[in-house]
Parts: sequence; C-alpha cells; structure tokens
Amino acid sequence: MSKYAQPTRRPAVVTGASSGIGAATALTLAAAGFPVALGARRTDRCEDVAGRVREAGGEAVVHALDLTDPSSVETFAEKVTAELGDVEVVVSNAGAVGPGTIHEVDTERFARELDLNIVGAHRLVRAFVPAMVERRRGDLVFVSSDVAVRPRPFMSSYAAGKCGLEGLAHAMQMELEGTGVRASIVRPGPTWSEMGTDWDVDEAAFVLDQWVRFGLARHPHFLKPTAIADAIATVVSAPRGVHLSLIEVNPEAPLEDR
Ligand SMILES: NC(=O)c1ccc[n+]([C@@H]2O[C@H](COP(=O)([O-])OP(=O)(O)OC[C@H]3O[C@@H](n4cnc5c(N)ncnc54)[C@H](OP(=O)(O)O)[C@@H]3O)[C@@H](O)[C@H]2O)c1
Repeated sequence: MSKYAQPTRRPAVVTGASSGIGAATALTLAAAGFPVALGARRTDRCEDVAGRVREAGGEAVVHALDLTDPSSVETFAEKVTAELGDVEVVVSNAGAVGPGTIHEVDTERFARELDLNIVGAHRLVRAFVPAMVERRRGDLVFVSSDVAVRPRPFMSSYAAGKCGLEGLAHAMQMELEGTGVRASIVRPGPTWSEMGTDWDVDEAAFVLDQWVRFGLARHPHFLKPTAIADAIATVVSAPRGVHLSLIEVNPEAPLEDR
C-alpha cells in the first residue's frame, strides 16, 4: 500500500455541531462518507442534525462537549473513540463572540471568550492529535475568521482570539511537518448562523454601522454555512501529498446594475 493511501473509513469530529457552520459541516462530511461525531453543549440540537445524517444513510454519534471544561473534552474524546474508532479528522469549529468596547469589557469576560476560542481549541488538540501523530495520519481544521487578518472593532476578545488561533495553527503546521498530520485553517467571512443572534438589537446595529464606517462591510451579502462546510470537506479530502493549509471564503458581492 502506498504511504500516501488514506483508509476508506475516516471518523470525523465536529465541534459546535449544534448550529450554523458546525451543523452544516457534520451534514456535508457525513454525505461524503465520513462517520461523524457531533459535539456541543446543546446535545438535543446535535441529535436533530445526527437524525438527518442517519436518515440519509450516514453514521453519526452525539456527545455533550463543553470546550471550556477540560474533563468534558477528555470524556468526549474517550466516548467518540470508543464508538467510532480512531479519529481521522477533527474540525475545531466551536466559537462565540460578544460585542463591547475594549476598555469597557471586564477582563473576566475577555478571558472567558479566549478560553473558548483559543484554549478550547488547544484542549481539542491535546485530546486527539497525539494519537494522529502516532498513526502518522490525520486532519485538523481550525475554523478561524476574517477578523484574524482584518480585525473588526467592538469585538476585541474575538479578534484577539482568532489572531491567536491562526498563530497557533501556523506554528503547529511547522511542528507537524513530516508527521503525516495536516493542520489547516479555514477562514470564513460573514456567514448566516446563530452567531450574534444573542446580542442586544441596538448594540448589534451600532456595531454593524461601525463596520461600515471602517470599510469592513463592503456589501450586504452573507455566505450560507454550507459554503464553509464545502471548504472544510475539500480540505480534509485532499489526497495525501497535498496540504490545503489555508482557505479564506468570502461572500461574492452582488452583481452591479449596468
Ligand atoms: N458566522 C460568521 O459570520 C462567522 C465568520 C467567521 C468565522 N466564524 C466562525 O465559525 C465558527 C462557527 O460559528 P457559527 O457562525 O456557526 O456560529 P453559531 O451558529 O453560533 O455556532 C457556534 C457553535 O459553537 C458552539 N459552542 C459555543 N460555546 C461552546 C462551548 N463552550 N463548548 C462547545 N461548543 C460551544 C455552539 O454550541 P452550543 O451552544 O450548543 O454549545 C454552536 O454549535 C466559529 O468559530 C466562528 O468564530 C463565523
């Protein structure tokens, strides 16, 4: 067998699979033949998605996952591995953002957001990557954000978190070179999801106005979560010998009237 061959069965973990991009990714990977493990705090919502996977003939398991709780991540990894076998693909997708002015946001909240958006991703890495390195095979996808390269005001911890996440990912790509494990970044632009739907309406309107003011919302189009799911599926399906290390996906601007 070629050293570049991939096994036919490649169990995949998707965090934040209860809504938005994570739910779409679980459905897309399952449709492509990956057995999927869905993790999030709202397991009822993950079960809905898993039910759709099974109805379509795919394989899906659901386990509670709180990325801010180290024991939750460890238990999740143990249960998923016991049920699906060695995990070949990990999509680190869960994330959250809150609005606020940097000097007014209390430091505890700032730290809580970083704890999910960066430290949570590292907990996931610790839980799954050592075994991938041991097997000399595996894919890890970090779902970043365009704020990593074009920071938006009034979401400081989120911007810091995604910049940090990409720093971690780029360093990791070098550390993993030659191990057979590919760490990749998928960097979405604005996408319809549940992100920001918990914000106060006036605060959300203010923040969106500020994005326009600073040239960060050039047109009103948003992506569907399936667009990001397709990018993630493409990254993890690249043949051995090819590493799609970074993909940025943005909504196409509306056609101008002529
Ligand atoms: N939407 C956009 O415009 C956009 C743009 C760029 C990047 N992104 C990134 O895309 C990723 C997915 O976000 P989305 O847009 O799909 O938003 P979403 O619909 O709000 O989904 C966020 C997911 O994260 C999960 N989550 C939150 N806290 C968690 C925790 N402590 N432990 C485990 N899971 C947790 C949520 O599940 P539970 O609440 O059930 O735990 C939910 O499934 C995020 O990393 C986000 O930063 C989004």
